[in-house]
Amino acid sequence: MSVHTEQSAVTVLGLGPMGRALAGAFLDAGLRTTVWNRTPGRDRELVARGAVSARSVEEAAAASRLTVVCVVNYDAVDTILRREAVTDALKGRTVVNLTADTPDRARDAAAWAAEHGIRYLDGAIMTPTPTIGTPAAVFLHSGPNDLYHKHQPVLEALGGTHTHLGEEIGRAAAYDVALLDIFWTAMAGYAHAVAVAHAEGIAARELAPFAKGIGDLLPPIFEGLAAEVEAGTSSDEGSPLTSVASSMAHVIHTSEAHGIDAGVMRAAEGLARRAIGQGHGTDGFIRVAELLGRR
Ligand SMILES: NC(=O)c1ccc[n+]([C@@H]2O[C@H](COP(=O)([O-])OP(=O)(O)OC[C@H]3O[C@@H](n4cnc5c(N)ncnc54)[C@H](OP(=O)(O)O)[C@@H]3O)[C@@H](O)[C@H]2O)c1
Repeated sequence: MSVHTEQSAVTVLGLGPMGRALAGAFLDAGLRTTVWNRTPGRDRELVARGAVSARSVEEAAAASRLTVVCVVNYDAVDTILRREAVTDALKGRTVVNLTADTPDRARDAAAWAAEHGIRYLDGAIMTPTPTIGTPAAVFLHSGPNDLYHKHQPVLEALGGTHTHLGEEIGRAAAYDVALLDIFWTAMAGYAHAVAVAHAEGIAARELAPFAKGIGDLLPPIFEGLAAEVEAGTSSDEGSPLTSVASSMAHVIHTSEAHGIDAGVMRAAEGLARRAIGQGHGTDGFIRVAELLGRR
């Protein structure tokens, strides 16, 4: 196989919404794209656009030097890859695992790959399917430098920004869980806010412009607080923990008066009260990061 065709071919295992978006972007970039999915038929539209449908994982793996895996979690990845016929087909080739899971699972997958002579990169996708193939996509990668740079041109066919976070294979998954932590706790807050607002006769669309205003406050706060966290300081005269805990209590009382579970806010308030109890009442809310990090 010539260098040109090696770099022009890619296999995608897993054709859920994200796998289909990845394969579609590879096709749009003109790459020979071989696809496989556990449940047959999910490749119909991709095949109509020029993808090659493999009858088995091993056939898919043998079709390209680079295999991208994107399924629900690493249990599914293991079910797909950890079979002799597949490991034999992947030997000497590269797997880029864009499935989300924990840093430990990424380390375990890399150890398995090394044992079987398979080169391995781990990655995380930080944006939803419509961004794939556009400048808005965000990909994080970790693993051997040389391997990342070798496959970077093919990975960049997926559009957006690609950041190689270093050789420690768990790094991309570690960033992923930290960022998902922000996203899903924020979404839990939003879902709760919509329920409480609704109980007070406010429609979600009426709340939306003000909710956006609250969201817009956060990026500069995250950036500003990063320096404080590094320095171990967290004074906040404008919004001390004593005042924060009191405003959280208003949310809890309003919510519970409507019979709405306030568990998420109760957890946040509990952290604020713990920090106050330890003498940090004049500090800002970010002081709880240090409390949580204490073993
Ligand atoms: N969707 C997004 O916007 C988004 C954004 C960022 C990251 N991600 C990540 O991308 C990955 C894929 O997500 P997704 O959106 O495509 O949907 P998903 O529901 O997380 O994954 C669906 C895929 O997993 C496969 N699968 C599930 N269990 C399996 C098993 N035991 N053996 C073999 N294959 C199995 C499914 O195959 P079948 O079709 O046979 O069920 C399908 O190909 C996930 O890790 C997700 O967290 C998704």
